[in-house]
Amino acid sequence: MTDSKSFVNTLPYISNPIEEFGSFKFVDWETGIYPKFKGGTKQREIDFFVDIIQKRGLRNILDFGVGGGLELSGIIKTLKKHGYLLESMEANEVDESFINLASKLFKQEQQKVLIHKANWLDLPKAEPSYTHRFDFGFLTGNSLTYIGGGTREYTKKAQQSIVTKFAGLIEKGGYIFIDSRNYDYIKSLMNLPKEEIFENFTFDYSVYYHGFQEKVLVFPAYISDTVVVLHYYDKDYKKWSKLDLYPIYQEDMLEILNKDFEVEDTYHDFTDGYKDKSLFVQYLARKR
Ligand SMILES: C[S@@+](CC[C@H](N)C(=O)[O-])C[C@H]1O[C@@H](n2cnc3c(N)ncnc32)[C@H](O)[C@@H]1O
Repeated sequence: MTDSKSFVNTLPYISNPIEEFGSFKFVDWETGIYPKFKGGTKQREIDFFVDIIQKRGLRNILDFGVGGGLELSGIIKTLKKHGYLLESMEANEVDESFINLASKLFKQEQQKVLIHKANWLDLPKAEPSYTHRFDFGFLTGNSLTYIGGGTREYTKKAQQSIVTKFAGLIEKGGYIFIDSRNYDYIKSLMNLPKEEIFENFTFDYSVYYHGFQEKVLVFPAYISDTVVVLHYYDKDYKKWSKLDLYPIYQEDMLEILNKDFEVEDTYHDFTDGYKDKSLFVQYLARKR
């Protein structure tokens, strides 16, 4: 390991691929990377959600960022297998290609899921409109991180306003489940040379994104208080993409949630309790 005070300049990677993948073609993340990176869902993860829902007797569920729909579809399928009846199953999505992907999956699985098209910024306005509140709203796969701005304080405020909009769709006593990448861990790697970043950014198993490091290499190229740049390399097809996002540090997320919710549990990669090194941090919180 390098001395923690030494400085490694990863700035060139903010806009460029790393040297060994310099010839890769740049593609759109949603269509060029996501499907392969996402892979299938793990039953263990679906069971985790099903357990939360069944134990608390929750009946009205909403996926705030449905993406390709794999989690929501898996949850509905497993609940049905358990003979557990839901009153409503709905989803929110802003991206047309994701709406098409998820609609196709729900149709194929013969699941009646109502998809509302809305940008979170405009909530509760949506097309079609929301007609009731939910007792379980979830946002998985590092999604809130799309919202932010030029300072850590601004990012916190912007993310806070979205979480408060989510809260408006959840009834009192209902739950929100939300996650983000463990940006605190990513930040701890930023003084390392890139070979060591890759070495440290390996995990026993991946959550949500089951193509991670097997099919699509992820390289955390840069992180500061205000911006995080993640590179995605598909070695088979020599494609790459990157996302410039707004980091969510754990301390900030707890503060954000605390305004409308009481945090009941935090998990790292679906395991209860604290860990320094994890891919995702997940929060389960109850509406005040
Ligand atoms: C990283 S994807 C995760 C998708 C899915 N939950 C999963 O785990 O595969 C981020 C999701 O957030 C949604 N999203 C990002 N910004 C949004 C916004 N401003 N309004 C509504 N949805 C948004 C995207 O369309 C996408 O569905």
